[in-house]
Amino acid sequence: MRILVTGGAGYIGSHTVVELLVAGHNVVVLDNYCNSAPVALQRVSDIVEQATGAQASLTTIEGDIRDRALLDQLFEEHAIDAVIHFAGLKAVGESVDKPLEYYENNVGGTVTLCQAMDAAGVTRLVFSSSATVYGEDAPVPYVETLPRGRTSNPYGTSKAMVEQVLTDLCRANSRWSVALLRYFNPIGAHPSGLIGEDPQGIPNNLMPYIAQVAIGRRSELSIFGDDYDTPDGTCQRDYLHVVDLAIGHLKALRALNEPSVKAYNLGTGRACSVMEMVQAFEKASGRKIAYRIAPRRAGDLPAFWANPSKAAQELNWQAKRSLEEMMADTWRWQSTNPNGYHG
Ligand code: NAD
Ligand code: UFG
Repeated sequence: MRILVTGGAGYIGSHTVVELLVAGHNVVVLDNYCNSAPVALQRVSDIVEQATGAQASLTTIEGDIRDRALLDQLFEEHAIDAVIHFAGLKAVGESVDKPLEYYENNVGGTVTLCQAMDAAGVTRLVFSSSATVYGEDAPVPYVETLPRGRTSNPYGTSKAMVEQVLTDLCRANSRWSVALLRYFNPIGAHPSGLIGEDPQGIPNNLMPYIAQVAIGRRSELSIFGDDYDTPDGTCQRDYLHVVDLAIGHLKALRALNEPSVKAYNLGTGRACSVMEMVQAFEKASGRKIAYRIAPRRAGDLPAFWANPSKAAQELNWQAKRSLEEMMADTWRWQSTNPNGYHG
């Protein structure tokens, strides 16, 4: 198939493009590089050429999903069969300060993309949603039969809004087939060490922060709260390997063969605490992680993890890679690229 991947130069997108190309798909990436760099896609091509011995069938287009004229031209020039839509803004804290940017990019951008797709007769879509749509009051583990809940920031609300937009679209138009993939906490990197997560500025997320402490770019990790009602007092999350997550997109794509909108949790089904993450990373890297206990971070939930049964049953997908692999691959990426893609 020929797949359009929006945001394909980003963290999850680049890993997914590798899996798509290795599986023999043709890929067109559309990215405006607002949170990524073209070099990531060069490295994707290198990985694929090493793995397959053939040149990767990858076309890259620099541009914005909000640019309708560009999208129309893209769909005219490339016979796209389906779209995997990663492009969007994802920093929870920033979304509180800049709500309009988040709604314009994440919600407005998706609406423009869907309008262009519909006009071009492309009606198969895999969307990057998030566990955050379950909201603040959902019981754990999260299961897809739960309703979307009350979100606590514009980023989370933008994901819930897009899920609703896509649900309404599928209800109105029986040609459409959509998978809403609710990611839990993706971490790790490609085992080659060539691509990985490269946050700009101070990392918001736990794993890149730990990795930057290990390499000496940050002096210590702040653990946000050790007085939660969890076994060791620190928050628990469902961390999954980004390569497992990438493979989930291929499986979801394969299942887009009937008119429907379906949500799937992509997680391991296991919860791991911040303290356990620090210890596992120390073991994998052989480095001590300096940390201090800091106040709780506003908006953090004590613990959530996935019930991943639906993806196992309907998509034949399971997260297979262990916590040790997640840590080892993070460390390989960070230690061989101390400044990420920037030198
Ligand atoms: P990322 O920032 O690394 O990748 C997003 C990519 O989209 C970047 O390459 C960026 O340059 C591009 N982009 C942003 N706005 C664009 C626009 N208007 N037009 C074209 N390109 C644009 O983020 P990621 O971690 O790879 O996340 C991918 C998707 O998954 C996002 O939608 C994110 O909200 C969602 N998600 C991520 C996580 C996570 O923990 N990383 C969890 C749940 C959901
Ligand atoms: N944490 C720290 N110190 C840090 C960073 C994080 O202690 O420097 C803790 C947080 O308090 C939390 C855990 O590590 O308990 C994980 O935090 P992350 O920021 O890595 O991840 P979140 O679970 O807060 O959020 C992530 C994504 C969201 C997404 C959500 C659910 O960032 O976009 O998972 O999928 F919505």
